[in-house]
Amino acid sequence: MSDASLYDRLGGVFAIAAVVDHFSDAIIENAAVGKLSKNPQLREWSNDQPERLPGLKWMRTLWVCEVSGGPYKYVGTKPGRSPLSLEEGHRQLRITSDEFDEVAAELARSLDHFGVPELEKSQVLGAFAAHKAEVIEGSLVPA
Ligand code: HEM
Repeated sequence: MSDASLYDRLGGVFAIAAVVDHFSDAIIENAAVGKLSKNPQLREWSNDQPERLPGLKWMRTLWVCEVSGGPYKYVGTKPGRSPLSLEEGHRQLRITSDEFDEVAAELARSLDHFGVPELEKSQVLGAFAAHKAEVIEGSLVPA
């Protein structure tokens, strides 16, 4: 196996940004987690805040670049327990485990769309899955 970083094997920032762009648009149209979501926070975000989508794509791109060993640094607007942790950025959204899994499935479809090889695809999905507990933390406590 190559000892190149995941970042380099994915093709660097432009390839990562293309995947993030594609999957972020797909989430908005996904019935479970986008404009028609039963989760009021996700539904309202998807319908009422289109001006935040470019910034979200930018932040997600930085996050993937850093987590995959690239040269860019992610700095959360709502810092969590560690620099790459996501609990504060997602707490108010009250994202459930099933909603997280739906977003991961959307990411998998976008990685397939761009022909990302199986090894790199599983490593990207693994990096997301490693942060699932943080992302769904807000759904696990009473409102
Ligand atoms: C490990 C998986 C995930 C990663 C890496 C990720 C990445 C990010 C990042 C980097 C931000 C910006 C945080 C900041 O303000 O600094 C963010 C915010 C957000 N994420 Fe996620 N996310 C994940 C899971 C999810 C899921 C499952 C959803 C459900 C649809 C979601 C929807 C959102 C929304 C709506 C925002 C708020 C944007 C705003 O502030 O207006 N994310 N995410």
